[in-house]
Amino acid sequence: MLLKSSHLPHSVYLHWKRWFFILAMVLLYLFLLVSGVKGQQGMPWHWMHMPRALQSWTSVKMSSPPAADSELLITGKKVYLNNCAACHGDMGKGDGRWANYLVPRPRNFSRGIFRFKSTPSGTLPTDNDLFRTISAGINATAMPSWQFVLPEKERWAVVSYLKTLCKDFAEEAAGKPIILTPSSDITPGRMVQEGKEIFRKNCVECHGPEGYGDGPSALNMEDSFGDPIEPRNFHRAAEFKRGHTLADIALVVATGNDGTPMPSFDLGKENIWNVASFVMSLAKEKEEGSEPNGYCPMGMGMRMGMKR
Ligand code: HEC
Ligand code: HEC
Repeated sequence: MLLKSSHLPHSVYLHWKRWFFILAMVLLYLFLLVSGVKGQQGMPWHWMHMPRALQSWTSVKMSSPPAADSELLITGKKVYLNNCAACHGDMGKGDGRWANYLVPRPRNFSRGIFRFKSTPSGTLPTDNDLFRTISAGINATAMPSWQFVLPEKERWAVVSYLKTLCKDFAEEAAGKPIILTPSSDITPGRMVQEGKEIFRKNCVECHGPEGYGDGPSALNMEDSFGDPIEPRNFHRAAEFKRGHTLADIALVVATGNDGTPMPSFDLGKENIWNVASFVMSLAKEKEEGSEPNGYCPMGMGMRMGMKR
């Protein structure tokens, strides 16, 4: 006699349904995976799996840029719309779909204010500067390190396209890069000692007497876009946006971070290396009791920390 499903014992019937459910879930998961559907908070999967080691702006490697012709611009536009617009917005106004989920917010390029550059405060960055920022990404923010994702030519292409999103690049030339030749006396102990004096005189007001970012002026600080900002806590190596090598720190002091309260300092080459040495002596790779620096899903106030 042929068994209808209703003739099956009750437990067997449930069993079959459960298997069907599991199979459906597996198929759904595989479908999501191959179709590239968004992950948590709607972020594309590949962003969530991008490498997040601590990067150094000054250590980015580059060969000479390709000719800036119309073909490069077309490639640049494609790269930009595919990889950058979701955060920075189609027109580069810092208003992409995910901008409201991110702290700090993605940069608005249209105002010509750039934070990470080798040129003096108040001037435009060079192409090499933009290439460095895009390649290294920005530590402790949502800005990814594109050097692991985009080939060098595409990174140069997106540099040239990005410059079309800000009219200042058509009107003025980039500033002249500040080149910090190495210090003549590299005795680490002496440099840190002398740097401490310079720090006391110039930096404690914002960065605090011990460099924890808690100076008297640190409260209620804003950047020039009206977003809240804090002076860096020098005891957390992972939070140095540009990187925590001596060269990265020295360049921050020499150029300042335009659009933030971090000023540039004209201290002379030796003193810049000295104060950078002092700052670096405070930076710890991992701080006791701090949150682990491992992978952290994207979201509000997210930190793209490092994995060590
Ligand atoms: C997941 C979001 C996200 C994506 C995708 C993204 N960025 Fe960013 N980007 C940011 C954030 C956030 C900042 C600001 C960090 C800060 O204020 O410290 C930023 C800052 C920058 C800056 C810094 C400008 C300065 O002040 O010096 C540049 C240049 C930049 N992004 C270029 C790009 C390019 C080019 C792409 C695509 C290849 C891209 N970004 C993709 C989030 C993103
Ligand atoms: C008026 C306040 C102010 C003073 C004075 C100041 N800073 Fe800063 N500094 C800031 C702020 C705000 C930031 C955060 C900028 C950002 O997030 O882009 C910062 C960031 C930094 C950074 C980190 C940049 C990075 O890559 O993340 C370094 C290094 C630094 N300051 C060094 C110094 C040194 C050294 C001095 C003294 C010679 C000094 N600062 C004086 C406000 C100040």
